[in-house]
Order: sequence, then C-alpha cells, then structure tokens
Amino acid sequence: MDDMLRRVLGAAFAFEVRVARGLWNTFVDITQFENALLNLCINAHDAMDGHGAVTIEIGNTVLDEQYAQRCDEVRLGQYVILAITDTGSGMPPEVIERAFEPFFTTKEEGKGTGLGLSMVFGFVRQSGGHVKIDSRV
Ligand SMILES: Nc1ncnc2c1ncn2[C@@H]1O[C@H](COP(=O)(O)OP(=O)(O)O)[C@@H](O)[C@H]1O
Ligand SMILES: [Mg+2]
Repeated sequence: MDDMLRRVLGAAFAFEVRVARGLWNTFVDITQFENALLNLCINAHDAMDGHGAVTIEIGNTVLDEQYAQRCDEVRLGQYVILAITDTGSGMPPEVIERAFEPFFTTKEEGKGTGLGLSMVFGFVRQSGGHVKIDSRV
C-alpha cells in the first residue's frame, strides 16, 4: 500500500508514514480502506503545485466529551485515528462545508468527479468512525 501511495504522489513529493506502536484492532473493509487512502492521496497530490509533503499518521486516540461537544454525531470512546496532511492549497470554509457532498468538486471538467470524499465519508460512517477536515488557508 505504501508503495502504491508513493507512486500516486510521484518522486517530487516528500512522503512519510508514521505508525504508533501498539495500535488497537479495528474492523474495516480493507478494500474500501485502501480506496479511501488512495483518494485522499490523490486529493493531496492535486492540491499541491508539483511539490510538497504528505504525511500519514496512525495512532490510538480516545474521543472524549470535550471533543464530542465540538462535533455532532460522534460517540465517545476508543478509536484508531488516521490523519493525512498535505502542504497544498488548503480548503476555505465554503469548500470544507461541501467537500463530502457527492459530486462536489472544485476541479475543472474531466479532472474531478467529486466522489472521492463522499466515498470516504460513507466508508467511515459505515465503519462506525468519524471524519473531519482541518485546514489553514
Ligand atoms: N487535500 C486537499 N486539499 C485541498 N482541497 C481538497 C483536498 N481534498 C479535497 N479537496 C477539495 O474537496 C473537493 C472534493 O474532493 P473529492 O470528493 O475528492 O472530489 P474531486 O477530487 O474529484 O474534486 C475537491 O474538488 C477540492 O476542492
Ligand atoms: Mg478526489
């Protein structure tokens, strides 16, 4: 999987994967998981102007009441978190708001389907997880 993501990004991008020790077990559809990661990497690639860095971090986390208050529909408890960060354009609030909608894309015709993040959203939902976007623009 690492190799495939590396290839998607191309040699001009720095790519780092950091996996914490002692990860808890999770139950997800591996095909959908890989598909989601691939989509996230393609998005990262598209958001960067030919160079930059992509980091994937995986670790254990506990979502507590404080966190749940800030996000609706999140259940408290133990989760494995995967965060993917890129140094690209970032997303303004109006894009973040609609990013998970099916067919929402800011890319020119033929470049984007607008289905990547809606797939990620559906997959995460179905797996009993939670997904959110953080951006500094
Ligand atoms: N890593 C990212 N950086 C900046 N914008 C992003 C990123 N990922 C997604 N987006 C924005 O969210 C939109 C929807 O993404 P997605 O559902 O994958 O559709 P698509 O990639 O086909 O446009 C993109 O068109 C883009 O505007
Ligand atoms: Mg996409």
